[in-house]
Amino acid sequence: NGEQKSLIMIFGATGDLANRKLFPSLYRLFRKGLLSDRFAVIGVARRPLTNEQFQENVKKSVVEAGENAGGIAEFASHFYYHSHDVTDSASYAALKGMAKELDNHYGLGGNRIFYLAMAPEFFGPIALHLKSDGLTDVQGFKRLVIEKPFGHDLESAIELNEQIRTAFSEDEVYRIDHYLGKQMVQNIEVIRFANALFEPLWNNRYISNIQVTSSETLGVEERGRYYETSGALRDMVQNHMLQMVALLAMEPPIKLTTDEIRSEKIRVFRSLRTIEGEEVSNYFVRGQYGAGTLDGKEVPSYRDEPNVDKNSNTETYVAGKLMIDNQRWAGVPFYIRTGKRLGAKSTKIIVQFKDVPMNLYYQPNKPLNPNLLVIHIQPEEGITLHLNAKKAGQGMDATEVKLSFANNAINEMNTPEAYELLLYDCMRGDATNFAHWDEVALSWSFVDKISDAWESTKDESFPNYEPGSRGPAAADELLSKDGFFWWRVRDLKVERC
Ligand code: BG6
Repeated sequence: NGEQKSLIMIFGATGDLANRKLFPSLYRLFRKGLLSDRFAVIGVARRPLTNEQFQENVKKSVVEAGENAGGIAEFASHFYYHSHDVTDSASYAALKGMAKELDNHYGLGGNRIFYLAMAPEFFGPIALHLKSDGLTDVQGFKRLVIEKPFGHDLESAIELNEQIRTAFSEDEVYRIDHYLGKQMVQNIEVIRFANALFEPLWNNRYISNIQVTSSETLGVEERGRYYETSGALRDMVQNHMLQMVALLAMEPPIKLTTDEIRSEKIRVFRSLRTIEGEEVSNYFVRGQYGAGTLDGKEVPSYRDEPNVDKNSNTETYVAGKLMIDNQRWAGVPFYIRTGKRLGAKSTKIIVQFKDVPMNLYYQPNKPLNPNLLVIHIQPEEGITLHLNAKKAGQGMDATEVKLSFANNAINEMNTPEAYELLLYDCMRGDATNFAHWDEVALSWSFVDKISDAWESTKDESFPNYEPGSRGPAAADELLSKDGFFWWRVRDLKVERC
C-alpha cells in the first residue's frame, strides 16, 4: 500500500514512550510487512547522538520489548537522528534539510508524520515552529500525532488546540487515546452492532445499569509531579473512561466511516448530564491511597510518594455515576470507577440487564441472578454472557451458566498492542480511533465542573483506602443507594461485591 510510505519524525525519541512503545510497535509492523520499504524515521531529541548510536538504542528497545530480533539490522537502518532545540528556528531548518534528503533517498512522496512523544507544554511551540519554519509545507500528507494530556482543563485545551490548528487542520490531527487501540475496546462496536441479539436490548427498557471499571495495582511512583496536577479524574476519566462510555452508549452509525462514528460519539458527550456544585457529591466519590502492603510488599501512601505534597488533596481513585439524558438511556446509570493501588490490574465492562418481569424461579434466600454481559478488556480479552438455566437433576431450580469467548482463542497471532494498531491507522490516514477535538472539549467541560467542586473543598478523609483493597467504602454506597452493587470479576467469573 503506497499510502504507507512516510517519513516519521518522533520528537522525544530518547524518551520512555518512544523506547517502550513506539520503536517496538514500528518493528512489529515492519515484521508483518505492513511498513513498505519506503519509510524512514527521524528521532528528534535534545541530547547529541550519532545515527549509529540512535540505531543501537532502537535495536535495544526492540529486544527489551521481548521481540524476536529477525531483520532488526535492516529495520534499524531506516532510523536517523537529529539533535534538536525545540525553541530554535535554525534547528528546525536543519531538520527540514534532513527530511528533504531522506524524502528523496527513500522516495517518500513528501508524506510526513510528526509524532510528539514529549511533555505537553512543548506541543504548541513545536506546532508553531513546524509551520513557521516550513516543515509542514509538503507535497504529500502531513499528520500530527499527540498524546494526552491534551490540556489541563477546557481553557488550556482550547489554547493548545488553537496553536496546533495554525499548522494542521482538524483532520490532520491524531489525538491518541491508547484505550481506543485496545482490541476489546474496538470490539465494543462490533459486539453491539453485528449482533441481532444485543442491539434490540441495548437501551433503558432492558438494561438496568452499566459498570466500567479500570483498576491498577501500581501506585503513582515516579510520576508524582505530573499526577499532583492531574489526579485520577483528569488522568483516566476525562479520556479513557469517557471514551469507553461513549462507545457503549452511542447510536449505531449509518456507516463505519471516521466522521459518522465520531459524530455519534460526540452526541453522547453532548448528552452527558452536567453535574456541578453541591450535586457532585451525589454522583462522584474520590479516594486517595494510604500506606500498606500489596502482594506482600510494603508500599508508601500517596502523600509519601516522591514529588507529592505531604497534605495532598489529589485523588488517586474516582467512582462516578454518569447519566446520559437521551431517549435510549434516560434512567440508566453508567457507573465508572478507576484507581491506583487497588487489588488487581484489570479493565472490565459489565452490562446488567433488568430482571424478568415475573420470576417463576424465585426463592427467598437465592435470588435469580440478572443476565450480565461482561466485556473483558484486560488482562483477559473476551466476552462472557451470564444466563440462568436449569440445574441438572431433579426439580426445576435455576442456576447461573456462563457462555464465554476468549479473544486469543481465535487469534493465531499475539494480540497487537494498542500503539501498533494506532500507528498503522495513522499511516493509513484512518482517524476513527483517535479523539476528535469536539470529544476532547466536551469531556473537559464535563470534568472541569467536578474538579472545580473538588478543588474548592479539601477531603478530610484522605487517605481513605488501603493498598490492595477495592477503594473507599463510599464507592459502594454510590450504587447501593440506587439499589445496585458493583460486580466483581475474577478469572472470567462474576460475583456480587
Ligand atoms: C495512562 C495514565 O493514560 O493510562 C496512567 O496516564 C495509567 O496513569 C495508564 O496507568 C493505564 O493504561 P493501561 O493501558 O495500563 O490500562
